[in-house]
Amino acid sequence: MNLWLTRLKEPVPAGLETPAELARFELSRAFPDVQVELAEQSAMGEGYRIDPLPGGSIRITGGSTGVLYGAYRLILDRFCGETAAAVESAPKYALRMIDCWDNPDGTIERGYAGRSLFFRDGKLSWDPLRIRELGRLLASAGLNVLCINNVNVHFPAQLLLEDDLPALSALAEAFRPFGVRLMVSVDFSQPMRSGIPTADPLDPAVREWWKQTAGRVWAEIPDLAGFLVKADSEGRPGPFTYGRNHADGANMLAEAVAPYGGTVVWRCFVYNCRQDWRDTKTDRPKAAWENYAFLDGEFAANVILQVKHGPFDFQVREPLSPLLLGMKKTKLAMELQLAQEYTGHQIDLYTMIPMWKELYEELPADSIMSLAAVSNLGDDANYTGHPLAAVNLYTYGLLAWDPGTDPEEAVARWCRLTYGFAPAQEKALTSLLLSSRRIYEKYTAPLGIGWMVNPHDHYGPNPSGYEYDLWGTYHKADRNAVGIDRTEAGTGYLAQYPEEIAKKYRDPNTCPDLYLLFYHRLSYTFRMRDGRTLIQRIYDDHFEGLEETRAMAGALTGLPFPEPDAGVIRERMEKQLYNAREWCDIINTFFHRLSGIPDERGRTIYD
Ligand code: GCU
Repeated sequence: MNLWLTRLKEPVPAGLETPAELARFELSRAFPDVQVELAEQSAMGEGYRIDPLPGGSIRITGGSTGVLYGAYRLILDRFCGETAAAVESAPKYALRMIDCWDNPDGTIERGYAGRSLFFRDGKLSWDPLRIRELGRLLASAGLNVLCINNVNVHFPAQLLLEDDLPALSALAEAFRPFGVRLMVSVDFSQPMRSGIPTADPLDPAVREWWKQTAGRVWAEIPDLAGFLVKADSEGRPGPFTYGRNHADGANMLAEAVAPYGGTVVWRCFVYNCRQDWRDTKTDRPKAAWENYAFLDGEFAANVILQVKHGPFDFQVREPLSPLLLGMKKTKLAMELQLAQEYTGHQIDLYTMIPMWKELYEELPADSIMSLAAVSNLGDDANYTGHPLAAVNLYTYGLLAWDPGTDPEEAVARWCRLTYGFAPAQEKALTSLLLSSRRIYEKYTAPLGIGWMVNPHDHYGPNPSGYEYDLWGTYHKADRNAVGIDRTEAGTGYLAQYPEEIAKKYRDPNTCPDLYLLFYHRLSYTFRMRDGRTLIQRIYDDHFEGLEETRAMAGALTGLPFPEPDAGVIRERMEKQLYNAREWCDIINTFFHRLSGIPDERGRTIYD
């Protein structure tokens, strides 16, 4: 299964040691008749230049991995029928990360494509062929860092820095020719496994333990990208236990890894996950800002704060996290989620790049220095469970290389490479994929409110599933109104933004519809700008979402997908239709029972 590289028929052989050797192999197989010369120039790093030369030969100039990226660019361009004008390119972000949430027992937290490609029975264990195939996929999408274990580090994952270090080193070696460096999620309290009674980041014994450990780890894996840390979040240990802040914690690790060029990627997903629903003062979206903004400028040079793109947790629609705009003296990464946790479990179609581009409307590309995305990969034959979910992995790579990437071109390129359909069919598939997120949004939780999912597994509707729970995710629907006022007159969340952004959302009469219930508490009879009442808009969106899913199913089944994709797509589309109907009926019934207001168009709402 070669996904978008189907036309590279021959597997990458074992024994290629450098990106340049791999580039030569790929070019010789892709174009046996074309003379391609590689000119390595280390100063170009990951960048490359492709020059057509007189006589039909081609030169790729680039740094040691740049030549490989140049080779894939040339190969994929030609597969797409584009022939070479000179082109020069370099990635916008130095770290273009995939974060795998794989556990040593082979399960994957929020994994929807099978089991781990790296772990089995408590140990690192992999199929070398698949690792080479994965390396090829990542490199051809321009991705260069792979964090291989879950941010929730449970035993025996700590052994990656202990007894399993040689195996980790062997895995790092397997990825090296692809320009992919490994990263490891670490347990902040790991020194306590060695008999140190504390994990206090200011304790000298703790600091020394991390220094020794980093020394051992980098001696085995000199190009390890760094450590990823989830601390004081959802039960994970962290500096708060010792009355320290997150700069104390991150800087302690940063000092330990700095001599080896390592980076500490420190996640900012910190909030009170033991909230009482009766407490109306605490508003979860405010948490990241409250925990980090005051630390701006306090972090070491090799610390990157990794911030989820929205202030909640990967919902279908969330505003951009204000933290991404508010820490100008700190290195930041934006965290996306390819794994379709709240977005259809890789059963429902959900193409993400339109959503990512919306984030960039408010996020200047220079405010962050790296992109990370939770992996949607697993050991299913097609790697992403739903064959069409691979579009998210590929287009994420394009975006991480160049945030100016055009969504339509990126999706069309993926379709062309993957299926090679005739132009009209390619156009149809591209437009289905591009509309899939909006359709999903319509039949699930309304107008930015989020969280109306089944608790824990997060698939399917359950409007009050999280309402009286501990997680701070409430919609407060009653018989008159729904939503939470997050303006300055309410919880004050909006005050975390610069005024030019805050003013777009403050007034419910001018706030963009799709964010309306994220920011405001409104009565069901509130008149929206198009003249509809809020309740009518909720009904309409849900009926439309279901209808559009039906139309999508029809259009998809008319496309000539090859097997085995065709079968999997059909089977998942059936499930999606069922899911869309569940959502439409349950959400409409929920609001109808509460409000008592009938649908103006008299459609069936079950009571
Ligand atoms: C979500 C997700 C968890 C995950 C967490 C995180 O809450 O449901 O499974 O651990 O995000 O990002 O750390």
